[in-house]
Amino acid sequence: MEFKKTICCIGAGYVGGPTMAVIALKCPEYKVEVVDIDEAKIAKWNSDRLPIFEPGLEEVIRATRGKNLFFHTNMAQAIKESEVIFVSVNTPTKEHGEGAGMAADLRYWESTARTIREHAEGHKIVVEKSTLPVRTADAMAKILCNFSDCKSFEIVSNPEFLAEGSAIKDLLEPDRVLIGARDTEKGRQAALAIEEIYLHWVPKERILLSSVWSSELSKLVSNALLAQRISSINSITPLCEITGADIREVSRAAGMDSRIGGKFLNASVGFGGSCFKKDILNLVYIARSYGLEEVAAYWEWVVRMNEYQKHRFVKTMIRAMFNTLANKRICLFGFAFKANTSDTRETPALYITQKLLEEDASVVITDPKALENARSDLKGLSGNIEFVEDPYEAAKGSDAIAVITEWELYRDLDYGRIYDTMQKPAFIFDGRNILDHKALHSLGFQVYPLGARPLLHW
Ligand code: UDX
Ligand code: UDX
Repeated sequence: MEFKKTICCIGAGYVGGPTMAVIALKCPEYKVEVVDIDEAKIAKWNSDRLPIFEPGLEEVIRATRGKNLFFHTNMAQAIKESEVIFVSVNTPTKEHGEGAGMAADLRYWESTARTIREHAEGHKIVVEKSTLPVRTADAMAKILCNFSDCKSFEIVSNPEFLAEGSAIKDLLEPDRVLIGARDTEKGRQAALAIEEIYLHWVPKERILLSSVWSSELSKLVSNALLAQRISSINSITPLCEITGADIREVSRAAGMDSRIGGKFLNASVGFGGSCFKKDILNLVYIARSYGLEEVAAYWEWVVRMNEYQKHRFVKTMIRAMFNTLANKRICLFGFAFKANTSDTRETPALYITQKLLEEDASVVITDPKALENARSDLKGLSGNIEFVEDPYEAAKGSDAIAVITEWELYRDLDYGRIYDTMQKPAFIFDGRNILDHKALHSLGFQVYPLGARPLLHW
């Protein structure tokens, strides 16, 4: 079949895979290629067992793969053929060197830019999809255009705002699509070329055009503001536990003010995911590098409050269970960083497991989708860890259940049946406030909600 246009994406991860699949679905006249250096991952994209779990993704892949959506590892070919090259490689936090623990590690970005330079022929629009520090486009431009070998290209920032677990829905019905380009004739043309892709299904009024720098910064700030709401509400949970207020009532009352809004005000054991912490630390690093210490410190506290919340959760468990967890069996309901995903990056479950093992507890982990990732995350940790698919089996013989992920299925379990199989006293620590605490209490559980007084039998 003759395609009107070829576009590609470098990086077939949580962002690149679903984003390109939806573009392929909505733009059947485009050839969409997704390439990655990881051969095993590409093989999974081409199989019946996709490398990531996302509701609705399988259907989109089934409708497009082999028709106008192709997954492969031949970067040179994809770069040569494509007019538009999306780059969605990972930008983790630097582990060592200058800015370690804060700044973004741009090594993959830089090597991708060099690969593009090596294989590009003709004019290319290079689209930043990965979250990047402000002014990365500048560095990219310098790599793509050195004096001896200047390629014709335009760099556009088009950050992705999808959330995992609802990626397909977010892609199909985005609140907004942001396109940042230079204010030059070539820049404007490139922005229009990207806009044309999204206009296949996104109403024009939802597409925002801005400068490259505003676009890059908007992505960091959006994530920082979302995370800040969670840390803000979480910071009130200890206060509720002491005073007898209930965080769910507080958050509902505050959120009903239309100026505040109710979303992202659910208190939790802590936020996770690949973006929030990384992007805030990135913002902190940038602010600090410009000497803006107060700005840096302000945002840094969002992350510190999150660490405090995870730490506090474990501390509550220890205190509640008579100051010792040694040889106790603790069952974690959920390991994914949120419901409806298999992703475990930065999940609070990891920290909690480590701390419980340090207390000599045995940890049983159950999760409907994330056990494979949990196994790999916990490889090498010494201590007694079990992975059990069935939550009833997982809870059997446990002294306590800790709800870490808000999977819907945990709401509907038969807790009477679970209670009967547990050690007594049987504790439940609801790190997501998704369970019916009064009902659990009347079954005999010692119930510890988050941000409310515990319901106990003594
Ligand atoms: C990534 C970034 O982490 C995030 O900051 C950004 O907003 C979007 O891209 P994600 O898709 O979740 O998010 O990352 P990941 O699932 O790790 O996928 C990145 C892919 O890039 C991996 O499959 C990796 O193999 C690939 N990659 C990495 C390359 O193809 N080439 C490289 O040089 C490096
Ligand atoms: C986030 C942004 O939402 C998305 O726009 C961006 O593109 C990538 O980063 P994601 O990390 O996939 O998406 O999930 P999100 O739904 O934002 O949740 C992040 C974390 O916050 C999860 O651990 C979640 O459980 C937690 N959370 C969310 C809360 O603890 N309370 C809330 O009220 C909402």
